[in-house]
Parts: sequence; C-alpha cells; structure tokens
Amino acid sequence: MPLIPLEDNFDDVINKAQLGLKVSDEDLAKRAEISLEDLTKVKGGEPLHAVIRRIARHLRLNPNALEALARKSWYPEVPVFPRGFAAFNTPFEDMTVNSFLIWDPKTKEAVAFDTGASAEAMSDVVRSDKLRLQYIFITHNHTDHVVALDELSEAHPQAEIWSHEQEPLAHPKARYFKEGVHFHVGALDIKTVLTPGHSVGQTTFFVSGLSWPLAVIGDSLFASSVGGSPTNYLVQLKSNRQKIFTLPRDTVLAPGHGPLTTLSQEKKHNPVFCY
Ligand SMILES: [Fe+2]
Repeated sequence: MPLIPLEDNFDDVINKAQLGLKVSDEDLAKRAEISLEDLTKVKGGEPLHAVIRRIARHLRLNPNALEALARKSWYPEVPVFPRGFAAFNTPFEDMTVNSFLIWDPKTKEAVAFDTGASAEAMSDVVRSDKLRLQYIFITHNHTDHVVALDELSEAHPQAEIWSHEQEPLAHPKARYFKEGVHFHVGALDIKTVLTPGHSVGQTTFFVSGLSWPLAVIGDSLFASSVGGSPTNYLVQLKSNRQKIFTLPRDTVLAPGHGPLTTLSQEKKHNPVFCY
C-alpha cells in the first residue's frame, strides 16, 4: 500500500489549537509579537518558520515539533505486524478514512474496527484468509467511519456490531458497551477505553495478543496532530493524555485518518502532546 500522507499540516494544527483554546487572531499576534499579516499567512499554509516558532508556545504547541511538521521532515516509522493485522484506507468525499481488521491466526476469528467508505477490501481479506468476522467495533459514529456498516454487516451476518452507549448507530443490530469492558477473540483481548473530545463516546480499543500492543484510536489523535474538536479541545487533550499517553510506549496507534504511528514517536514528535 502506498504511504498515506500525514492527515494534517502545520497550519491545520495551528488552526485546531487556536480554535480549541479560543484565542483571537489579534490576541495571538500580540502575544507572539508578530504582525497580523504574518499570522494570516501562516494560518493559510505559508511555512514562515520563525513565525511558526513564535506562535507555538502561545498555543501550547511544541515549537520544534511544529517546525518539523512545516518542514515536512518527519513521518512515522511503524513496526510491521507479521500476522493478524490489516489496515484499509478508503476515499470518502474529499478525504480518506481508515478501517482495520485484526485476527487470531490460529482460531481465524476476526474483528473489524470501523468500516471505511467501502468494506470490499476488508471482506476480501476475510475471504482469502478464511477468517470469521466476530465483531464490528465502531470508534465513533461520524459518517466517514460507518459508511459501509450495512455492506459489512450483510457480508458477515454473524458479526456483532458494537459501539459506546453514547455513539448510537443507525443499525438494528447495534449493541452498546460501557468503558472498561473486555472482549475476547481467540487469544486477543480488546479493552474499551473512553477517549471523548472529538465526539462524546469516542472509544479507543486497546488490543493485547498481537505482536505489538495496538490501540485503535478513532479521531482522538492523528500522527503529529490531534482530531478536530473545536468545542471540546481541552477535554480531548485531557482524555488523550490520561488514557492514550499512559499506554505502553511501544503501542502502535491506529488513527481514523492518516498513517499508523506509535506512542513513543508521538511523545517526541506530536506538537500538541510533546509540549
Ligand atoms: Fe473521521
């Protein structure tokens, strides 16, 4: 699969932080001692490195990490799962969205996380590896993550559909979990961890039993950025810090958009979280 570009550029991160922290342009320019004109240029995507560094601290962003993003000098390296893991990236409107499939190679029982815009590639893997899809877990109910729910469910009628009780799904088979529940699939353990902000019941699924610990995190965080959360930015930051950044350092993070990353890399390179 070709490399998926980072979901966000430096200007997206700046705009998300400014919106989330509710700082006006005038205030930000004054605090960072820059001109409004330069601020407008940076927010429009012009990589004025000195200005970006000045803005960073006033938006609680790490200047080095933000500048690296502007220089396009960082892209995550991710360990390979030799078996039991597949990632899918499907186009939806003007973006692409991720969905994931994991399985126990011995028992062939499989689990889907989100559906993507099309479930075709996922169903192909289920068929070619002779898997049996047991569960469809939804990180949050935004359209891009559940577009192919009917399609996936019809292709695998035995699969149960689950999301957090605060993420209602338009599907008659939908069932709801609370935080802290464990699902067992073959030798895999999947724990539900509530990471609200981007949406109220957004759930991170923490998976043990594969070659690396895995967290399927929805839109709570993207490699080198954070999910959009204009009204609950601080809630999102807090829940990510408490629930995701406390997972084992070698945890592979599987976000809803953009490339896979790891917790240890985000601790060093994510301008929002290595502040
Ligand atoms: Fe999304």
